[in-house]
Amino acid sequence: MLDFVFHNKTEIYFGRNADERIGSLSQRLGKKVLLHYGGGSIKKTGFFHIIKEKLREAGVEFVELGGVKPNPRVSLVREGIELCRRENIEGILAVGGGSVIDSAKGISAGRFYEGDVWDLYEGKAQVGDLMPVGVILTIPAAGSESSLGSVLTNEDGWLKRDIGHPRIRPLFAIMNPERTFTLPPYQTACGATDIMAHVMERYFTKTRHVELTDRMSEGIMKTIIHNAPKALKNPYDYDIRAEIMWASTLAHNDLIGTGREQDWATHNIEHEISGIYDIAHGAGLSIVFPAWMKYVMEEDVARMAQFANRVFDIEINPYDFKETALEGITALEKFYQKIGMPIRLSDADIDDTRIEEMAKKATNDDSRTLGNFKELTSQDVAAIMRLAL
Ligand code: NZQ
Ligand code: ZN
Repeated sequence: MLDFVFHNKTEIYFGRNADERIGSLSQRLGKKVLLHYGGGSIKKTGFFHIIKEKLREAGVEFVELGGVKPNPRVSLVREGIELCRRENIEGILAVGGGSVIDSAKGISAGRFYEGDVWDLYEGKAQVGDLMPVGVILTIPAAGSESSLGSVLTNEDGWLKRDIGHPRIRPLFAIMNPERTFTLPPYQTACGATDIMAHVMERYFTKTRHVELTDRMSEGIMKTIIHNAPKALKNPYDYDIRAEIMWASTLAHNDLIGTGREQDWATHNIEHEISGIYDIAHGAGLSIVFPAWMKYVMEEDVARMAQFANRVFDIEINPYDFKETALEGITALEKFYQKIGMPIRLSDADIDDTRIEEMAKKATNDDSRTLGNFKELTSQDVAAIMRLAL
């Protein structure tokens, strides 16, 4: 196990009564907040009205900024920064999923930065002062409610890039599983896929003696495999939704990543796909992960066989770990298909025409490699994408 420091400042308020805290917690963001949200699902469900009432009762003044798209755009973040400056807004209340939260984090980071906020996402400047961000989560998926990251898309070049800094983590997250009852099946499945992926990016490591975090990771993955199909059949079942919602946070709040080297190549490859083709992040992951596993398997075939055995209950063939590992990948693909996710680029109507371009973008023209389990060059990235065709 590697040395580590673990600190996650996000306070979680979880459960049926969590909404009762909206007013009092929002007071901690400041006297005037930006109420940031997406394309309108919270209006359709009537939740928006409830939130506004609670803010008024608590005496928190607010300015609205909706319209965050999945794969959130930097253009709206720039608009939000201007609005916060003009209106002397002190904090941001993000209501939604990863896209709204990441957009809020972008506004928070750009508010006090004198240059263009995209500089931060290109690594040209460091994260400085931040506005406080609070979250009301409506979709369990990205884990952004307590993560240190924010991912934005720049329409100029369709680049999807991220920043990461511990101070970016939201102050609080209000998580009521009942709010996820209205999720369309596809979004439920995309969320489950992303949660699995956040665990797998940490699980496939070369660090030895990480049994505790291995076992915790396997528990989260088994919980998702067990509950995601059930949520699709019973969308209004509180307990099933609650299991998935808590899993989303635990998969990405860095607890299971402690003491081990992490990978993240699959996420970086996926960001190029959703950056260009604007598909759901979860859909890109269910396409890339099996291909990545096949490509890097030889790096540590015993770990791949362990995954097959402990996560999908496949018996280990002691004479042929590779056979077990491949059975594990097939089981993962079958799980994705069972919940309605694509497992090949062709399933998402993507062909091979832009593979080389995406591979170059992902590696910044081969000025960096991706991942740690195996360090990938642009040639490797292109080969993985071809395996996923
Ligand atoms: O926009 P509205 O109308 O609200 O609809 C949303 C959106 O269309 C809908 N939705 C959300 N809650 C709902 C609902 N519909 C009905 N009922 C509800 N309760 O779901 C759709 C998807 O929302 P989105 O926020 O895009 O989903 P998700 O949470 O999966 O976020 C994806 C984004 O997060 C990034 C991804 O790259 C992607 O841009 N990620 C952020 C990470 C982080 N900051 O730590 C890590 C992740 O790996 C990921 O990269
Ligand atoms: Zn993800």
